[in-house]
Amino acid sequence: MNVFKFMVPEIIFGKGTLGLIGESARRLGATKVFLVSDEGVSRAGWVEHAVKHLKQVGLDYQVWTEPTPNPKDYEVERGKEVYLDTGCDAVIGLGGGSAVDAAKAVALLATNGGKIIDYEGVDKIERPLPPLICVATTAGAGAEVTQFTIIVDSERKVKMTIGSKSLVPDIAIIDPMVLSTIDATLTANTGMDALTHAIEAYVSVAATPITDVLALKAIRLVSSSLRASVASRTNTDAKNAMAMASLLAGVAMSNAILGAVHAMAHPLGGLLNLPHGEANAILLPHVMRFNMIACMDRYADIAQTMGVRIEGLSTREAAEKAIEAVERLCTDIGAAQKRLADYGLEEQHILELSKAAAGDVTLITNPRDATVEQIADIYRAAL
Ligand SMILES: [Fe+2]
Repeated sequence: MNVFKFMVPEIIFGKGTLGLIGESARRLGATKVFLVSDEGVSRAGWVEHAVKHLKQVGLDYQVWTEPTPNPKDYEVERGKEVYLDTGCDAVIGLGGGSAVDAAKAVALLATNGGKIIDYEGVDKIERPLPPLICVATTAGAGAEVTQFTIIVDSERKVKMTIGSKSLVPDIAIIDPMVLSTIDATLTANTGMDALTHAIEAYVSVAATPITDVLALKAIRLVSSSLRASVASRTNTDAKNAMAMASLLAGVAMSNAILGAVHAMAHPLGGLLNLPHGEANAILLPHVMRFNMIACMDRYADIAQTMGVRIEGLSTREAAEKAIEAVERLCTDIGAAQKRLADYGLEEQHILELSKAAAGDVTLITNPRDATVEQIADIYRAAL
């Protein structure tokens, strides 16, 4: 068994738990909260809802909704200025992966200073962050429980992965009620992100018995509930199951880390501003085929967990069924129905993208070593 540690925030899960945001912030010693969210979450009414609960406990606050999908370096650096200028002493991230990642980056810069690029990589953060609460408004990103933030370097047009246990929020709130305002496309994309987290964590070279249990449970929940969650905004059982799947997959991937799908999706998101979950959904079957020789038995487990009958099949046949099950799920929910070329990817981009993917920290835990040329071939297969 490898030596490992396991990081997790305090987790508050369940319908209506968004209402605990104020008392959670008070408990951490906050007096003025910097509430980071985005326009979409604000339009859906959740920022107003959160502010009501901050006021209820007498907390002062500053709302900041400037981060865009795939948050940029200059956005979070401006956010830090607003945080400091308005005298805040705690950060709340309320949103999907983008708003939560932006909140983490603002909190990092608020006490550590400098530019966000200074922290690219692992364990570069030296000073503690202000109290940090993250609230998930989508079921998939998992950023509310992870030790990572992903920020676009606008000059290089790549997503930087920043990893440190300092980025694990103090408190993560997961309230399935907020999923009722998300449309079918975002539900499908974020659900595929959760499935990708679970699959990459399960086959990661850093997987542990703890992350295995979480990843398999997440795969089971996505397989049984994502279709129903995409089909109806009001199916509360499906929303609860997907909120739990996202949470479990998030904790699994924060600790087992990820693999080639995320390593390849990050530069794609930086170059094309492609939604992260859609990039994952397009790449996942191709990366699974590439990784097959490294982890056939684990793919067979995934097939079985996704409801495939594997009795009488060889390990290889069962592993191939896992890839088919992923593709069938994508077809059913309308994910990955386009190719990368439809989003503007051209052959001339592939070498640069492949070099960026080869240098992404999430590639380190991929079960099969991948050269730049092999990564380029996977991009071409999805072009
Ligand atoms: Fe992801």
